[in-house]
Amino acid sequence: MHEVIQGVQGDPTVYLNGQFLPLSKATVSVLDRGFIFGDGIYEVVPVYWGRPFRMKEHLDRLERSLAKIELQQPMPRAQLEQLVFDLLERSDLRDDLSMVYMQVTRGVAKRDHPFPVPAVKPTLFAMVAPFVRPTEAVRTQGLSAISVPDERWLHCDIKSVSLLGNVLAKQAAIRAGVDEVIQFRDGWLTEGSSCNIWVVHDGCVYAPPKNNLVLEGIRYGFLEELCAAQGLSYVLEPISREQVVMADELMLTSATREVLPIVRLDDQPIAQGRPGPVYTRLRQAYDDRVLALRRND
Ligand code: PDD
Repeated sequence: MHEVIQGVQGDPTVYLNGQFLPLSKATVSVLDRGFIFGDGIYEVVPVYWGRPFRMKEHLDRLERSLAKIELQQPMPRAQLEQLVFDLLERSDLRDDLSMVYMQVTRGVAKRDHPFPVPAVKPTLFAMVAPFVRPTEAVRTQGLSAISVPDERWLHCDIKSVSLLGNVLAKQAAIRAGVDEVIQFRDGWLTEGSSCNIWVVHDGCVYAPPKNNLVLEGIRYGFLEELCAAQGLSYVLEPISREQVVMADELMLTSATREVLPIVRLDDQPIAQGRPGPVYTRLRQAYDDRVLALRRND
């Protein structure tokens, strides 16, 4: 199929400010504050066989991000949920695996740093994109990472479209020929470029506390549930670089990578350099929850 935009197959239907239209026709003003200032927020909801996964949690976080940047809701919650389903209905991927991307910016106004007064209509954009679950090879071989200093700002809890710090961090991984970066701020673990990082010690699952230094991934709550069901302890506390290096297992989570093992860091193996037993249990539990969506026909 032809590419309208590099890397995008065909011309999928997207949503922009009240209209469903082909991607090739969806345009915003160059004065949109998302374009000019990165003044906006976004969400990525994974969708399995047409069923959004943990949509409530994703929309809750969208609302939290909006509140944190003092941006009004573009539409009531029920309408936003409906929009996701309407968009999926119009998508070729409706019965397949996909992700819904949603973005809200502070709208279009003269280029000026203060919020526009009176407020202008926020720009609301949403699209469905293909989502490929991690392959068996990745699940069994695991990923490699490098550690880098976290050079981002101090509001990483906001799912902001200002992602330059994350983009540069990811590019550092690509340049180093590895899959991901693990970021440290003053020697303390924060997160990956677009994922949360988990450390296993003595069968206990650790992650950094939910604060302004990390994005609270929706999988924070999900892994907490899975750990509880598996009888694994789940602890959120500051994690030093030494604890990461000496981990029994390392994992990452995100909407699109689900849960995956990291088996090498800075060219050294983590423990035996193989996916560990805690990962294997969580991976299985994650798969079970996903496959239950398929059986719900
Ligand atoms: N990223 N931390 C950062 C910086 C992220 O960008 C993401 C997700 C996460 C994991 O959050 P969740 O479990 O809710 O996906 C953590 C998305 C997938 C993205 O930007 O494409």
